[in-house]
Amino acid sequence: MARLSDHRPDTDGSLCHRRLDQLTANMAPLRDVLIETMLLDEEQFRRRLPDLVETHQLRSVDPEPADESPAAVLQDLKGFEPTSVTGFEREYIAKMVRLGTIPLGLTLTGPAYQDNPVRYATQTFQEMTGYSLAALRGENLRLLQGPATDPEAVATLQEGIDIWEQRTVELWNYRADGTRFRNRVTIVPLTGPDGSITNWLGVQKAIDTTDD
Ligand SMILES: Cc1cc2nc3c(=O)[nH]c(=O)nc-3n(C[C@H](O)[C@H](O)[C@H](O)COP(=O)(O)O)c2cc1C
Repeated sequence: MARLSDHRPDTDGSLCHRRLDQLTANMAPLRDVLIETMLLDEEQFRRRLPDLVETHQLRSVDPEPADESPAAVLQDLKGFEPTSVTGFEREYIAKMVRLGTIPLGLTLTGPAYQDNPVRYATQTFQEMTGYSLAALRGENLRLLQGPATDPEAVATLQEGIDIWEQRTVELWNYRADGTRFRNRVTIVPLTGPDGSITNWLGVQKAIDTTDD
């Protein structure tokens, strides 16, 4: 796909159309496309990745990673024990690893009946919060909340979890060093092989604010 900068000004109508399409694609929120892509199976995910990388200019992502199985991708993760997660979780984590440095954080938690323990969090999420994967694993992400956290936003997340529905909120969170940041959080229920909700995907974005 051509980049915007590749187009020179001209009078060709079809080129203008293409440029408009490209602009529209660039404006599509990364979060929504990302969620859609994460929900694809491994093979479709691989096929979609180059387009996602190009459209959203995700320069840190290898659009065509080596043909490795999820187990092989996880084997290379430092301090991570691949056998500590289910096969379903491994597939999600392998996709998350490939998107680990994009400007949005990604988190995978276990089921609500286990209080949504963190199974994996991407590098961006670790940098955003100052917590390492080792510190996050097994924790519920309410550990980021504190005195200024909006109770209504927390209740909205809780409601989504109760009825297995996607929710997006903005709320104050606290980094490991105690400084706070505005976090836009989306939670997405993940349906496991048996048709029940076995896990949750989190997409987090630190929102620019002067009050942080
Ligand atoms: C996948 C996932 C990601 C979440 N990410 C965050 C987060 O980044 N920040 C936050 O304050 N809460 C986050 N939460 C919400 C909390 O884990 C918890 O569900 C919320 O505080 C409501 O439950 P509680 O009232 O029992 O605390 C996330 C939840 C899930 C399932």
